[in-house]
Amino acid sequence: MTELVVKPVEASVLYELRRRVLRSNDPNQRVDDPRDADDTALHFGGFLSGRLVVSASFYPSEAPMSTELVSYQLRYMATDFDVQGSGYGAQVLAVASAELVARGAQQLWANARDTALGFYLATGWSTVEGSEHLSPYTQLPHTVILKKLPPAN
Ligand SMILES: CC(C)(COP(=O)(O)OP(=O)(O)OC[C@H]1O[C@@H](n2cnc3c(N)ncnc32)[C@H](O)[C@@H]1OP(=O)(O)O)[C@@H](O)C(=O)NCCC(=O)NCCS
Repeated sequence: MTELVVKPVEASVLYELRRRVLRSNDPNQRVDDPRDADDTALHFGGFLSGRLVVSASFYPSEAPMSTELVSYQLRYMATDFDVQGSGYGAQVLAVASAELVARGAQQLWANARDTALGFYLATGWSTVEGSEHLSPYTQLPHTVILKKLPPAN
């Protein structure tokens, strides 16, 4: 099996994959975030033989309903269609989490698509009861999820 290479990238590298996997390839939908270019934002790509197949972006942000920990918001988590279910999304999250811990992060949070909750539960996240809502961007059902990170060594 080809090894996945996970590395930090500029946000713009991820826009095409974000659009295709998360926005039905609709050219009229936004796939950026106002914080994309912030020094404190972190964007990761997962690459197979140089081809981008996973995107994940993290922004410093107070977690809803859990404000006491230093938190980052995960947005635009996506694995390209033909390689979903291969463990690559989980690998990118693991590499990103280690880097975020080194930067002082204690917790991750996200607005998760309900159709992806199985992925998040399998990778150690938990749902926030009563946080079910429709995304203002896609109108799809979402739930707030949290994941506590281990302390830095
Ligand atoms: C959700 C998504 C990011 C997961 O990435 P992935 O690379 O396919 O996931 P992985 O292969 O790393 O899966 C890791 C684990 O989660 C499980 N999993 C993945 N997607 C799942 C799903 N939709 N439902 C249930 N379990 C799922 C896998 O079976 C695996 O479990 P295991 O470790 O017990 O074998 C990807 O499927 C995707 O891009 N989906 C469409 C876009 C989307 O919904 N993004 C999330 C927006 S919040």
